[in-house]
Amino acid sequence: MLIKRRTPWTLTENDVTPKSMYLSRRRLMASFGAAGIAACGPRGEAAGAAQEAETGLRFTKTDYFPAGDLTPVEAVTGYNNFYEFGTGKSDPARSSGRLTTKPWTVAVEGHAERTGTFALEDLVDFNRLEERIYRLRCVEAWSMVIPWVGVPLADVLASFNPTSDAKYVAFETYLNRDEMPGVRWPVLDWPYVEGLRMDEATHPLAFLAVGLYGDVLPNQNGAPLRLVVPWKYGFKSIKSIVRIRFESEQPPTSWNKSAAREYGFYSNVNPNVDHPRWSQASERVIGGGSLFARRDTDMFNGYADAVAGLYAGMDLAKNY
Ligand code: MTE
Repeated sequence: MLIKRRTPWTLTENDVTPKSMYLSRRRLMASFGAAGIAACGPRGEAAGAAQEAETGLRFTKTDYFPAGDLTPVEAVTGYNNFYEFGTGKSDPARSSGRLTTKPWTVAVEGHAERTGTFALEDLVDFNRLEERIYRLRCVEAWSMVIPWVGVPLADVLASFNPTSDAKYVAFETYLNRDEMPGVRWPVLDWPYVEGLRMDEATHPLAFLAVGLYGDVLPNQNGAPLRLVVPWKYGFKSIKSIVRIRFESEQPPTSWNKSAAREYGFYSNVNPNVDHPRWSQASERVIGGGSLFARRDTDMFNGYADAVAGLYAGMDLAKNY
């Protein structure tokens, strides 16, 4: 079934995107040499047709803002931040092969009527997946435009009937020392944790992704389930989620615990509030054709019309 959503940030009508469209795009890019960036992940160009047919997701396409050039899949899956697999950008693609994503369960806890441990397939309705093209703007001042596949976070949270005591939602990443070589180093206080205020989490733009570029998520991008909060810096988009907890108090978050002066709880993309060590006014466009491709950073990453109201009356320089 096609779900039509007309929202301020929706640009065009829906359509079901056949996987073949992306595949032909990927082949086209490869023929132009874009594949030279990195051969990454188990589902690169070399994957056979049978495997693609097996792993491909079926979804409803919605052309969400921003329109324009998608970041080549090789950059999306080869230039990552997933510190559990190392701090280098190519470490996650190289060393996430041992991550076990099947079966996958998520513990749902806290202020909700329905709690317990749920299989991924019971949490996410794979018959109602949609695609959203969202820009991911990393706090390190680079960005990518990625066709995510998943479901609205609001729909998943509503299925647990949170009570009126649920003011925040906390998320936690999987932690396994045998499968995640990066957690041998105390770069962060593992497991990685993140959180959102309830009204942020239930905003229609907040998304739970199970795929990108029409396929299931590669491990390095947070398989099998990750958050995408497009108006916030990328570190809020926690990967490989195993726990969701409805909280009455603001939950701790990994980067804030690590360096509170540099990384706040809100972390809304804001070109006017610099990181203490660098400017946030512009960003490097990853895979943008030239190593030096840059763009001006947009307030709330371009989603201000949709989300600015969530922060009315708040001082965004203090609540960074
Ligand atoms: N989630 C976990 N568990 N561990 C991480 O290191 N890095 C974050 C976020 N989610 C991270 C994480 C950061 S800093 C960014 S920019 C995005 O993931 C990067 O997502 P991508 O690799 O899919 O582009």
